[in-house]
Amino acid sequence: MKVLVTGGLGYIGSHTCCELLDQGYEVVILDDLSNSSIDVLDKLRKLTHKEISFYQGNMIDEELLEHIFQEEKIDAVIDFAAYKAVGESVSKPILYYTNNVSTVLVLLKVMTKYEVKKLVFSSSATVYGDPKTVPIKESDPVGNTTNPYGTSKLFVEQILKDLYRSDSSWDIAILRYFNPIGAHPSGMIGENPKGIPANLMPYIVKVASGELPCLSVFGNDYDTKDGTGVRDYIHVVDLAKGHIQALSKLEKEGQGLYIYNLGTGVGYSVLDLVSTFEKVNHVHVPYQIVERRPGDIAECFADATKAKEELGFEAALGIEDMCRDAYHFVLKNQEK
Ligand code: UD1
Repeated sequence: MKVLVTGGLGYIGSHTCCELLDQGYEVVILDDLSNSSIDVLDKLRKLTHKEISFYQGNMIDEELLEHIFQEEKIDAVIDFAAYKAVGESVSKPILYYTNNVSTVLVLLKVMTKYEVKKLVFSSSATVYGDPKTVPIKESDPVGNTTNPYGTSKLFVEQILKDLYRSDSSWDIAILRYFNPIGAHPSGMIGENPKGIPANLMPYIVKVASGELPCLSVFGNDYDTKDGTGVRDYIHVVDLAKGHIQALSKLEKEGQGLYIYNLGTGVGYSVLDLVSTFEKVNHVHVPYQIVERRPGDIAECFADATKAKEELGFEAALGIEDMCRDAYHFVLKNQEK
């Protein structure tokens, strides 16, 4: 089976390509390199010893997509190509809606034309807004997103539901990720955002490596076990495997639209993550408590039952693996 992976050189995309190739799928990558590096392509080739077709460009480019579908016999698409910086989405909503929603419409148009109707879509737990209860089930209400990034994911989910309603020969899996962290155990691919990171794990890593002086913990007065925010961190390699399980469900059973949470079902606080990181990596991570970050919620973790029952998906790696692999990647790539 040949899979087009859009955004395949990004953080989650690259780990998913690695799993796809390891499991015998053929992979075609489309990536505009706006938030990724071409080096990742070489690393994927080295890691997997497999051939990978690569096209540089943005999914908004209908001609390029047509060209890919003509050249390659694509059987299914996994769509990761999107912007994901929450803060930036607030200041640049048009950019985010164009790149995260309009592009998907182009993709769906071209997929329809070439009768490729199997799609795995990269969504986010952010579509649940501020959940009334945790753990969060897929059937819980969505909406009340707090930023254009989150709303763009919600919009695409709705577009996919409407599409399926209009034509039930589509096979669609919407995957709602919780908080992916960690890196491939080889240390060859991972996440190392440029500049000052907005998310917790990349920030911790930069403090541990001395690049930043101190972590700011955004509030310790939430109604949680230690007052800091609780999230469902999931190892990116587990998350990548979830995509292959979703794809194989679409291959086998066909003709459905499915929505799955991809999380571990366990919540860890900011301070849990800091102390585990310090313990497994034998480093000190200085932190200070500061004001809450606007838009943050107290607790967010998955009810992971549906993905387990229907996909056989279960996270195998724990919080210690996530902390070890995240740091290993950064140290290994600093040395070069
Ligand atoms: C955020 C986004 C989510 C996105 C995800 C990507 C929001 C509301 N949600 O999730 O849409 O998919 O990133 O991984 O923005 N924290 C600190 N100090 C820091 C950074 C974070 O204390 O320097 C805390 C936060 O307050 C939160 C936890 O760490 O309690 C996790 O934050 P983060 O990694 O940014 O993820 P989310 O906010 O859960």
